[in-house]
Amino acid sequence: MTEHIHSELADRILTLRLNRPEKKNAVTTAMYTALLGAFRQANKDPGVRAILITGTGDCFTAGNDLSDFLQAPTTDENSAVSQFLQALVDLDKPLVAAVNGLAVGIGVTLLLHCDLVYAAEAAPFQTPFAKLGLCPEAMSSYLIPMTMGRARASELLLLGERFTAQTAREYGIVNAVLPANEVLPHAREKCLQLAAMPPNAVRTTRRMLKYGSRMALAETLRYELEQFGALLRSPEAIEAMTAFMQKRKPDFSRFE
Ligand code: COA
Repeated sequence: MTEHIHSELADRILTLRLNRPEKKNAVTTAMYTALLGAFRQANKDPGVRAILITGTGDCFTAGNDLSDFLQAPTTDENSAVSQFLQALVDLDKPLVAAVNGLAVGIGVTLLLHCDLVYAAEAAPFQTPFAKLGLCPEAMSSYLIPMTMGRARASELLLLGERFTAQTAREYGIVNAVLPANEVLPHAREKCLQLAAMPPNAVRTTRRMLKYGSRMALAETLRYELEQFGALLRSPEAIEAMTAFMQKRKPDFSRFE
């Protein structure tokens, strides 16, 4: 487990904390691998009844690490990110998110796989994939329109503008919006509630809630990884990500 993912098991709740505050908790390949390992272990461990995922300070996560993306990692089925996304689908324990602050990219799309999501009032949300020369990931190209309808999905995924926690609640991404200091205790309380319930009934209910989308998610994951992998190597994405690292505005005027 990398130092950037803190893991703690107490009261049958596995708490996973994205812990890289100096980089706004941007998720690296090592962090995906650590989360993947934690999910697989949790599936096997009867001592884990719920998983709670959160960030640090006023940041949940600023999304995938853009320096990692600039290395154009592979997105084939053996890659860390691909296996992490598959593990998210295969997770057999309830996953609860305490979105303590800023959520960008995978910080938003991850929430579409959570069972319950609680967010801080001031937390900004953003899915800027197209702005970065990329495309939606984590099955969000299926889950976002399904969750909120085509019109809202186009705003989120094409324009990639920031939206508020309140909007995320109205759009069906978030269950409740709370003052920042109440988010983690509230999410933990819901985990305790789940942990005290009949575990087999909880697991079966979760599986049923996802059953209807199984085939579509599998196909979407395959298609997104193929497209995303190709775009990662595109001059547009390289310009967008290099501009971010160089702290300048990107220039897409030369692209056709
Ligand atoms: N990948 C890599 N590094 C990141 C990062 C990311 N996704 N997000 C932030 N960082 C780094 C910054 O490069 C900076 O590093 P430095 O101190 O070595 O220069 C540090 O984290 C702090 O970020 P900074 O941009 O200075 O903070 P801010 O408060 O001004 O802005 C954000 C915060 C999140 C709005 C801004 O960092 C941002 O837009 N990040 C990129 C988000 C993104 O596009 N994610 C990918 C989605 S697919």
